[in-house]
Amino acid sequence: MLCSKAMQHGLIHHVGVAAAASGIMCRVMSASAAAEAVPEKRIKSISVYRWNPETPGDKPRMQTYEVDLNTCGPMMLDALLKIKNEIDPTLTLRRSCREGICGSCSMNIGGVNTLACISKIDTNLSKTTKVYPLPHMYVIKDLVPDMNNFYDQYRSIQPWLQRDDGLKPGDKQYLQSTDDRQKLDGLYECILCACCSTSCPSYWWNGDKYLGPAVLMQAYRWIIDSRDEHTKERLDKLRDPFSVYRCHTIMNCTKTCPKGLNPGRAIAEIKKLLSGIAKKDEPKIKPLGA
Ligand code: SF4
Ligand code: SF4
Ligand code: FES
Repeated sequence: MLCSKAMQHGLIHHVGVAAAASGIMCRVMSASAAAEAVPEKRIKSISVYRWNPETPGDKPRMQTYEVDLNTCGPMMLDALLKIKNEIDPTLTLRRSCREGICGSCSMNIGGVNTLACISKIDTNLSKTTKVYPLPHMYVIKDLVPDMNNFYDQYRSIQPWLQRDDGLKPGDKQYLQSTDDRQKLDGLYECILCACCSTSCPSYWWNGDKYLGPAVLMQAYRWIIDSRDEHTKERLDKLRDPFSVYRCHTIMNCTKTCPKGLNPGRAIAEIKKLLSGIAKKDEPKIKPLGA
């Protein structure tokens, strides 16, 4: 401590030759101690789905990479970016926020649909972790699925406030009671990562006609909003045999949601409204005031 502080502050001339010599010894010893302390590498095998449509005749395959966990962050996104930056720049994946907010890095890790940025690497070094794109989706390249059908379905439920008062955005503030606002909790937090929809067997087989848990939960978010006046139209659009009724309450969706949400419950609530078992409450506070 004395020798490093003295060196740092340029005081070595004031403490004499003996002290300087002891400082050199100190540095030599700490260097050799540091050399001895280099930890053994912790090599983890990560096997990643690869497919490049730009290479004619390329067939999907798994490619295994070895990552030293001592020089890698703790999450699977850290490992994939380390592979991309240091081993294989051709590996293709989506990511943006790296903190579970944007929903871009959804993929299937170790058999579970989740977000790579909040999924801890399995530190069992004897086990290879497999990483695939979201299941039953068309693949654009490597870990990047085609989300167009999913976004078209989201567009189809018209995810915005709808009213008949003729007011333009910014004309007036719409009021909502605390209780009515609470009905949106557990719904508005969805980041549209599609982990739930792509874990749903009904969505795998009927993804063109069944809207799937993520989109249905957002449909319910607008149906139940006390300020929205198009509840009947929204429900009528869902009355066909496929949009909602392909859900068989298997609940894979709720089990896999990396944000801890419950799309299975939202679908059950829509079914209650469609069948007339439940009715949307009148707003506790009128959105335009008394
Ligand atoms: S509860 Fe419905 S939406 Fe969720 S996984 Fe099961 S069938 Fe799919
Ligand atoms: S409900 Fe959960 S799993 Fe489904 S899209 Fe939203 S955040 Fe993702
Ligand atoms: S990078 Fe945004 S959710 Fe993972």
